[in-house]
Amino acid sequence: MTAQDDLKRMAGAKAVEFVPENEYIGIGTGSTVNYFIQALAASGKTVKGAVSSSNATSAMLEKYGIPEVTLSDVVRLSAYFDGADEVNHSLQMVKGGGGALLREKIVASASDLFVCMADESKYVARLGKFPLPVEVVPHARSLVARQLLKLGGQPQLRVGFTTDSGNEILDVADMDLSRPLTLEDELNKIPGVVENGLFARHTADILVLARPSGVEIVR
Ligand code: 5RP
Repeated sequence: MTAQDDLKRMAGAKAVEFVPENEYIGIGTGSTVNYFIQALAASGKTVKGAVSSSNATSAMLEKYGIPEVTLSDVVRLSAYFDGADEVNHSLQMVKGGGGALLREKIVASASDLFVCMADESKYVARLGKFPLPVEVVPHARSLVARQLLKLGGQPQLRVGFTTDSGNEILDVADMDLSRPLTLEDELNKIPGVVENGLFARHTADILVLARPSGVEIVR
């Protein structure tokens, strides 16, 4: 296990403390989330059910015996647990490194509390070093890429990758993310864009931040 994996494991384990028992929760995607699922199963805490953000997470839920429900089975989720590729001091995030940003944003929007789990490398003063994932309808890929170039970004197709919703991902480097709220909305107005990985409008409520010295809770 790398030092970063160890921090992800610490964040995932600590986040279990925020799981409301006998409620419905939402679960994101990624290696930090996988540690969270393992820790939740080991904790003996029970939830009524979990809404998954991806096929990969559904497989983990099944493996660890956590009951899965769909968004159509529930009205609201008490809490949502997910990782991030970058999170700033306002708890705005860049997500989608694992390609699950669309369902992640949907499930997060149905949740009363967003608990983000991250190792310290993800906690940044300014968003934008990590290329911004943009999910696009395959048919519109080149059209959207040209628009992203006009906005100053350098889009790169995530080759050989199809999202769980059958779309493609453009990873956009060099994008100016200094106005994340505006950009999140602007990108989604481009015809062919399904969703983008900026979580500026819906920030995390709690950041469980793992450092070698221990786990810090940032609100
Ligand atoms: C998936 C995501 C993940 O939360 C993000 O990529 C972080 O992943 P990891 O925990 O493996 O570092 O947004 O779409």
